[in-house]
Amino acid sequence: MKGVVLAGGTGTRLHPLTKIFNKHLLPVGKYPMINYSIQKLRDAGITDILLITNKQSLGWFAEYLGGGEDWGVNITYKIQNEAGGIAQAVSLAEGFIHPNEKFAVILGDNLFQDSIKHIVEQFQLQEQGAKVLLKEVHDPRRYGVPILEGTVITAIEEKPEHPSSTYAVTGIYLFDAAVFEIIKTQKPSKRGELEITDVNNVYAAAGMLKHEFLTGWWIDAGTHESLLHAALFLSKEDEKCL
Ligand code: G1P
Repeated sequence: MKGVVLAGGTGTRLHPLTKIFNKHLLPVGKYPMINYSIQKLRDAGITDILLITNKQSLGWFAEYLGGGEDWGVNITYKIQNEAGGIAQAVSLAEGFIHPNEKFAVILGDNLFQDSIKHIVEQFQLQEQGAKVLLKEVHDPRRYGVPILEGTVITAIEEKPEHPSSTYAVTGIYLFDAAVFEIIKTQKPSKRGELEITDVNNVYAAAGMLKHEFLTGWWIDAGTHESLLHAALFLSKEDEKCL
């Protein structure tokens, strides 16, 4: 299986840290943020990785990660030219992913404790469809929130005012290659982006969206406060990271 790490974005909620710098290269504990998603993929046995970032940041990533040799992975780069949203970024992986291949996507600012090795292995056995990972959170309104009927996700609501569960859909996604055709049918949301939640809802409507739960800590490190929390958690685990 291959992996895709999304490391673009403007990081406005982290200004002024990200005014001239890419969020995913900021220090979290002893390492730049990007180390952690690469480590999670590698530990799950995924060594062919596509890193998607913006034009301005590409040189920094290339200088820091190179081709991934020092990490025992093989990194390819692709530029996202527009603020088109997560689904638009995922669409750039078409070509990198073979027509009957599956892949894992990690939003580079999602930092978490669990290994995804077992989840990746399980998804390899799933005939088709997609899988999302859920985590119970205090304020689900900040995230995509699943509507769960029994053990089935019937739909996901993006940042709902009245969340129907206490779970967040984390930024760790597993897709089959059908996702590229699904993205082509999507229209931009109110915030002008192709939403990954809309894409997942196509899978959910077809009964092809599976899920699992993260049991360890999970942080979307997109704000000053969450970045600090992530650094505190990770400072205890640093010795294990790359
Ligand atoms: C994105 C997704 C959201 C998900 C979150 C996880 O939100 O749209 O569904 O819960 O990542 O980090 P964003 O960070 O773009 O607001």
